[in-house]
Amino acid sequence: MSSNADIYHEMIIDYSRNPINYGTIENPDVTFHDSNPLCGDSIDIDMKIVDDKVSDIKFHGKGCAICMACSSVLTEITKGKGIEEVRNITKHDVLSELGLENLQAVRIKCALLSLKVLKSALYSYLGKHMKDSQDVDKLKEEAANLY
Ligand code: FES
Repeated sequence: MSSNADIYHEMIIDYSRNPINYGTIENPDVTFHDSNPLCGDSIDIDMKIVDDKVSDIKFHGKGCAICMACSSVLTEITKGKGIEEVRNITKHDVLSELGLENLQAVRIKCALLSLKVLKSALYSYLGKHMKDSQDVDKLKEEAANLY
C-alpha cells in the first residue's frame, strides 16, 4: 500500500509532467513575472478578473518539479475565487495540498515562487484600481511581508 509521502511524490511528478492551467491568456487584466535568482527558474501568471472574481488564470515558465506542481495547485485554488479570497491565500494552503509543509528551507522558494507572482499580480491590479491611498499603503505593507 502506498504511503501518503508516496502519493504526494507521485502527484508532484504528475503535475510537473502535465501542468494544469499552463499557458497564456489573450488580453489579460493583469500579468506578472518573477524568477528565483538562485536557480533562474521563472514564472509568469496571467489573470482575467470579472466582477471582482478571477474568472481565468494561467501560468507559464520553467521550474523544477516542485515549482511546477505548486503553480498548478495554486492556479486551481485561485480560479473562480473573489479578489479578497485570493488575497487571503496562504503558503500553507499551497504546501498542504502536496504534503510539503515540512519542506527544507532551500526548496521553499521553489514551492512559493508562483504564490509570490500571484500576490504581486494581485497587488499590481488592486493598486491600479484602488482610489483610497490608505488601501494602497496597506497593500504595499502586505506585499512587503508576504513570507
Ligand atoms: Fe528553481 Fe526549484 S530549482 S524553482
